Amino acid sequence: MDTIVISGGKKLRGTVPISGAKNAALAIIPAVVLSEGVCRIENIPNISDITLIAKILSEMGAIVKMVNKNTLEIDPRKIVSPVASYELMRHMRASYYLLGALLGKFSSAVVSLPGGCDFGVRPIDQHLKGFMALGAKYRVDGGMVHVDCDKLVGSNIYMDVVSVGATVNIMLAAVKAEGLTTIENAAKEPHIVDLANFLNCMGADVRGAGTDVIKIRGVKKLSGTTYSIIPDQIEAGTYMIAAAATGGDVTVTNVIPKHLESITAKLEEIGVQIEEYDDSIRAYCDGKLNKCNIKTMPHPGFPTDMQPQITALLSICEGTSIVNEAVWDNRFRYVSELRRMGAQISVDGKIAVVEGIENLVGAPVKATDLRAGAALVIAGLSANGLTTIEDIGHIERGYENIVGKLQGLGADIKKIVVEEQIPAVAAAL
Ligand code: UD1
Repeated sequence: MDTIVISGGKKLRGTVPISGAKNAALAIIPAVVLSEGVCRIENIPNISDITLIAKILSEMGAIVKMVNKNTLEIDPRKIVSPVASYELMRHMRASYYLLGALLGKFSSAVVSLPGGCDFGVRPIDQHLKGFMALGAKYRVDGGMVHVDCDKLVGSNIYMDVVSVGATVNIMLAAVKAEGLTTIENAAKEPHIVDLANFLNCMGADVRGAGTDVIKIRGVKKLSGTTYSIIPDQIEAGTYMIAAAATGGDVTVTNVIPKHLESITAKLEEIGVQIEEYDDSIRAYCDGKLNKCNIKTMPHPGFPTDMQPQITALLSICEGTSIVNEAVWDNRFRYVSELRRMGAQISVDGKIAVVEGIENLVGAPVKATDLRAGAALVIAGLSANGLTTIEDIGHIERGYENIVGKLQGLGADIKKIVVEEQIPAVAAAL
């Protein structure tokens, strides 16, 4: 298993370019299925989740060409079956977006139940409620969800919880439905807006994305287009927090500062200096950092995907912070790993109480999921001594070239691939 090794304590300094948003790309790539022409998607992050979704489409018959490491050209016209391979799909949450896309294209879809990061039950009742409102029926059989209909007809759908996944899936089905669909209590995340913009570039009629009411007037045909994905606000926030945790000075470039407001507000509360420019943000420290309370919420609240990283930072801020994970049931599993580094954190259900200490101490730890892995990287960068992080496949699902980018900021970090470990172990025996 590949490992990241960090010798902590170096202040991060410099500029880091932010890649395209994983969560936007993972909604937009399945949406290409709906097109009747070739789509060229630019600013795609070069991460393993993207390789996987591209492979799923290609196994379904799409012609997927990697133009360069951040651009994909996808011709979906050879996809003739509404069934997506279980073997690949069960590994990733976003594969369930193929439900909406295939339903929109074929009036039928067979897709596996969601996988991905494991931090609680991932219900899809709101997705199914939306499909049923559009006239579809569903059944679950052998780990696969089967959805079909004679035709999709626009409808009024009120979401009982704010769900990014359900909002995306209903948008994907509704763009080809007959008449008007209204999604009320819709998610407002930047990647919802990005998906709407992409669909509109293909010829869809989606209005209101970014507010809690999205109106979609179905169209008969969607065409090929060229589109560039928005920057990843979670990747940007992760580097800003890493700067703070090491007492450094980092500028993240190629960002949309508006998307980062909930993160910059909390960092300022902690005592991090923030300077915003048109498409970059500088984060630096010139004094002590203080406790702060966090509650994760749907956008524009503080994102659940930044909760582990900010908890790692709070573990070395002065005072006691309360972190309330209000989106997922089981998203504090990484805390036991942070404790191995000396963090004083207790967890009761969805609440973590973080007693700030002066310094973490390097230790061998394991990434339990994507953002948990990022939190351990931040902890390792700030800690005294050596940290080794196992199971970094989780981190590589969502961070493009994290080791190279951190090296560029002056971190003492390297990736050990499994082949390098074998001779070392053999020599030691
Ligand atoms: C969520 C986050 C998203 C993040 C992603 C991965 C929110 C609102 N969404 O998106 O920002 O990138 O995790 O970490 O913060 N739910 C239901 N029924 C459903 C669907 C969801 O009850 O049919 C509940 C979930 O249990 C969860 C909440 O709604 O408590 C949010 O889920 P949802 O937004 O769908 O999850 P993701 O799309 O994975």
